[in-house]
Amino acid sequence: MTIIDGKKTAADIRAELRVRAAAFEERYHKKVGLAVVLIGEDPASQVYVRNKIRGCEDAGIRSFAHYLPADVTQEGAEELVRSLAADDAVHGILVQLPLPGHLDAERILACIPAAKDVDGFSAENIGRLALHEEGTVACTPLGVMELLRRYGVETRGKRAVVIGRSNIVGRPMALLLLNADATVTVCHSRTVGLAEECARADILVAAIGKPDFVTADMVKEGAVVIDVGINRVDGKLTGDVDYASVSKKASLITPVPGGVGPMTIAMLLSNAISCAERAAR
Ligand code: GUN
Repeated sequence: MTIIDGKKTAADIRAELRVRAAAFEERYHKKVGLAVVLIGEDPASQVYVRNKIRGCEDAGIRSFAHYLPADVTQEGAEELVRSLAADDAVHGILVQLPLPGHLDAERILACIPAAKDVDGFSAENIGRLALHEEGTVACTPLGVMELLRRYGVETRGKRAVVIGRSNIVGRPMALLLLNADATVTVCHSRTVGLAEECARADILVAAIGKPDFVTADMVKEGAVVIDVGINRVDGKLTGDVDYASVSKKASLITPVPGGVGPMTIAMLLSNAISCAERAAR
């Protein structure tokens, strides 16, 4: 059994990103620019945003951090995003989710042009992914594909099961695996016989947000198990996979923390550089 080291892989990628960001700057005489918008004071979001800003600094990307109060109006939030959309120094825009309840997230995200949508959440980018066209892909599922690639996991012809169908992870994950020639099944809260579906998987991706949901009986001997879950249980981070039992059956497995998590920011920075490169050419 091999433990997939997301921390080390993300560090390797970030070294490559520094080179890409520097090459962009050298060629176009300006830095790649990423705007990060945080609305309100959700503690988890504050940590994520701080890490994203730090990631920018580390990669040589110019960050534009915007903090709006929790009671900002719909119009105020949209106004900010529209101004970032019009700013030539900003190549990518990220609005940290979730938003305070009174705001219509869909309408705010709709103010981000597809070319600056570093999260890959827009209908245009999801559509491009579904059509297997070039575009921006959501950071977390992209990070999973990068881990599979760098650990030499063959996807062609393999049975892949994704548990979870969220717009941020499950759906784009399934599309990426399909584009990589896997035979893909998506399981969710209404799936009948979920354990049996999972037990057939050569590659099992858990993205449901339920601590220790995937147990050893749901995993085929030798399967590759990717745990996207980040659950806080008694102040400790736990994944969606019961690591202690599943790691005895898996050939490759991601730990939590230190698996998929560190890859997400690396992919965000990579997406920002890609948006800048596309805008410049
Ligand atoms: N909140 C949790 N994950 C994400 C993400 O990938 N992007 C944004 N914008 N918000 C998030």
